[in-house]
Formats: sequence, structure tokens, C-alpha cells
Amino acid sequence: TQNFLRIVIPYLGIFFTLGSSEVQVVGPADRVVALIGDDVILPCSPQPNVSAVGMIVRWTRLNPKAENVHFYRQGRDSNEDQSPSYKGRTSMFHEELKNGNVSLKLTRVTLSDTGRYRCFLPTLMKETSFQLIVGAVSQPVISIDGTKGMGVVLKCESGGWFPEPEMEWLDSSGTILPADGPPEKHRDSEDLYALRRHVTVDQTDTNRFTCRVHQTEINHLKEKEIHVPGEVFIG
Ligand SMILES: *[C@@H]1O[C@H](CO)[C@@H](O)[C@H](O)[C@H]1NC(C)=O
Ligand SMILES: *[C@@H]1O[C@H](CO)[C@@H](O)[C@H](O)[C@H]1NC(C)=O
Repeated sequence: TQNFLRIVIPYLGIFFTLGSSEVQVVGPADRVVALIGDDVILPCSPQPNVSAVGMIVRWTRLNPKAENVHFYRQGRDSNEDQSPSYKGRTSMFHEELKNGNVSLKLTRVTLSDTGRYRCFLPTLMKETSFQLIVGAVSQPVISIDGTKGMGVVLKCESGGWFPEPEMEWLDSSGTILPADGPPEKHRDSEDLYALRRHVTVDQTDTNRFTCRVHQTEINHLKEKEIHVPGEVFIG
């Protein structure tokens, strides 16, 4: 037996190595971005296409804090060690497993869901991980805040952003205007950013001005335009 094992074990090693290295576990091409309250799908599938029926699938979050997100085995969601913050919010597409789709659906995302997620298939000894970024956006609101010399002071306000966005004033040709100082910022009770920024504008051909709020990490932009009636300038 000793000799037999000595001969067979290396072959088993090669067999398993070859068997599993052919298949990769593939996630999204880029990070996944969602907005607060959204339902989001975290994509994951073995490639080339193999059935995942009967496989074990473990979804975890690696950072900022390690959490058990979802555990699937023996043909069912076996979530006894699931972190409380994910309770009742995770599901897999059971009817899709035969197509190799082990994606996770996460409902009602919150800011604290942001982090690096790992999809691990112990059966294949393969995993993938990727970043989920949860953001929040809101529409800016413009108002006329008075006059200053020949100019009109405009105020732009936008609350409910995450992560912290940029706020800018532009003229009708899209040129950034020098604002009356940097944006004033504060965090609300839900940790979202609220911004306010003033600009003093002189009369132009169009009297149209735009406030733009932009968050590059979540790639969201919101704009609002105001038309200031000519008579406001004459004051
Ligand atoms: C998995 O199935 C879900 C539900 O049909 C679908 O939305 C998702 O795009 C699929 N993902 C992959 C990676 O095939
Ligand atoms: C995987 O194979 C199944 C069955 O042949 C097919 O229905 C499904 O569309 C395939 N999925 C992908 C991602 O190729």
C-alpha cells in the first residue's frame, strides 16, 4: 500500500490541479456601484461555463470588516453563520445554478455595505473578489440670494451625497466660473454630505447659469440650470 500511495498521490495531485485550473471564477469586469436603497447583483460564475448545481458557494466581505454574507451548500441557502447586517437581504438565483450563475442578489443596500466582496467556490478551489461602492446622489437646488454691485448672487444647495462630491458653477458655454469661495459642507445625521456654494454673476447674453454636482468614484453627475431675469441685474 505504501508504494501504491507513493505512486498514486502525485497523479491525484496533477489530476486535481489540471481539473481546477481549467476553470476560473469570474466576477464583474469592474467594481460594482449602487445607490442607497438599490437592489444590486454581485456577478460571479465559473468560466468556462460549468454547472454549479451541488457546489458550495461562499460569499464573504473581506473589508473594511470581514463578514459572512451568504453561504450556499447541499442545494440550499445555509446561512446559520451569516452576519446580522445581511439577514434577509441576500439570495442566489437557484434556477440559474445549472448555467453556472452563482451571482448574489443584495437588496436595500446601505452605505455600510461598501467593501470588497469575495465569491469562493471551494469545490473548484477558486475565488474572485471585487469592490462594491455604495453612493447617494441628489438634485441641486438654485436660488437667487441677492445682489452685489452690478452682479447677482446665486446659491446652489445639494444635500444627500456620498461619497463627498464636487460642486461647481458654470456659465452657459460650460466654462467654470470663479465661485465666492469653496463649497460649504456638512454631514447630515445619516452621514451624507450636504454642500452649498455661492457665485456672483454679471449679466450675460443668456443669463443662464448651471450648478453641477459630480462624484467621480460613483460616476454620477447632477446639474441644475437657472435663468436669471434681466431686470434682477438692474436691481
Ligand atoms: C445570473 O442570473 C440573474 C437572474 O436571472 C441575472 O440577472 C444575472 O445577470 C446572471 N448573471 C450572470 C453572471 O450570468
Ligand atoms: C451556460 O450553459 C447553459 C446550458 O447550456 C446555457 O443555458 C447558458 O446560457 C450558458 N451560460 C453562459 C454564461 O454561457
